[in-house]
Amino acid sequence: MFDKKETVLSVRNLGTRFMTSSGTVKAVDGVSFDVHKGEIFGIVGESGSGKSVTNLSILRLIPSPPGKIVEGQIILKGKNLLEANENELQMIRGGNVSMIFQDPMTSLNPLLKVSVQIAEVLELHHGLSRKEAEKKVVELLKAVGIPDAERRAQEYPHQFSGGMRQRVMIAMAIGCNPDVLIADEPTTALDVTIQAQILDLIRRLSDSRTMSVILITHDLGVVAGMCDTVAVMYAGRIVEQSAVDPLFREPRHPYTQGLLASVPRLDSAWSERLYSIPGAPPNLADLPAGCAFAPRCAYALPVCRNAYPPLTEMDDGQGGKRLVRCWLHTSENSGEQQ
Ligand SMILES: Nc1ncnc2c1ncn2[C@@H]1O[C@H](COP(=O)(O)OP(=O)(O)OP(=O)(O)O)[C@@H](O)[C@H]1O
Ligand SMILES: [Mg+2]
Repeated sequence: MFDKKETVLSVRNLGTRFMTSSGTVKAVDGVSFDVHKGEIFGIVGESGSGKSVTNLSILRLIPSPPGKIVEGQIILKGKNLLEANENELQMIRGGNVSMIFQDPMTSLNPLLKVSVQIAEVLELHHGLSRKEAEKKVVELLKAVGIPDAERRAQEYPHQFSGGMRQRVMIAMAIGCNPDVLIADEPTTALDVTIQAQILDLIRRLSDSRTMSVILITHDLGVVAGMCDTVAVMYAGRIVEQSAVDPLFREPRHPYTQGLLASVPRLDSAWSERLYSIPGAPPNLADLPAGCAFAPRCAYALPVCRNAYPPLTEMDDGQGGKRLVRCWLHTSENSGEQQ
């Protein structure tokens, strides 16, 4: 269980744009959330909703040009990362905040032995000698469940299977005891049994080290099984955020309802057609004036098309708060729904 009182990372009103030939893409627009100590914070949403850009912005890894963080604050332990200089950022990346990606091969150097790559990170952040670092590498590989760690440390990335490579990435990512581990679709390239093992490993590491995790995924099943809290993103904005149980039990935003309805259920009849949300996501370079989901929403009111909905805070029925950005749930309109 995470500590609700201790906020490790606070993202406030983050805005990230890409200047493209077809206009300014609002990839992330007014995103705010807090990640607490030991919490697994899930971010879900369809492709292009801004999940990766949000997290790359946290680490200031947005390619510029064409990208630019135009507003907001990212507070890590009291420091605004948007004001950090390059040296500070280098210590934060892989030190306080580390990231693992979908495809470990893009982050591992194929020409270097695994031990050397992980040791370099430890030398940089902890000032360890090469010998000390290599000893720690073996401990880390054992901690992430790599058998015969002493020998495997001397191998190259291509000698590892996909699942084992992801374990190597995780070993590298936890080497400096980060406050926050960002895992961007860490298992989509793996087969399902290996997927479950890697997720279980992340969960156990989060518990044993009280490490916070931001877990980005398309998979609501993964969110249900892993996360404490979940934020649902649509068109660069968080539309609903809550503890996992209340969100699954009673989704409030019509987009969240649609996402949940489009997941196959074991108890549904085989002949039942799976729901799919009608329409397509909006062009982020030309967002509608009101709610970006309104054109696809079966419950849209006239106001939804004209004005951007405010964030409504409501009780989640479990002593916590749920946030919903939807006109149907504002105090004036909540009586009109259903
Ligand atoms: N370098 C870039 N140049 C221009 N636009 C970009 C760039 N990187 C991202 N975008 C745009 O920003 C938006 C958000 O992208 P992002 O990668 O965060 O989506 P995502 O939610 O992670 O999607 P996926 O589930 O497919 O990984 C998309 O519309 C994307 O086209
Ligand atoms: Mg992504």
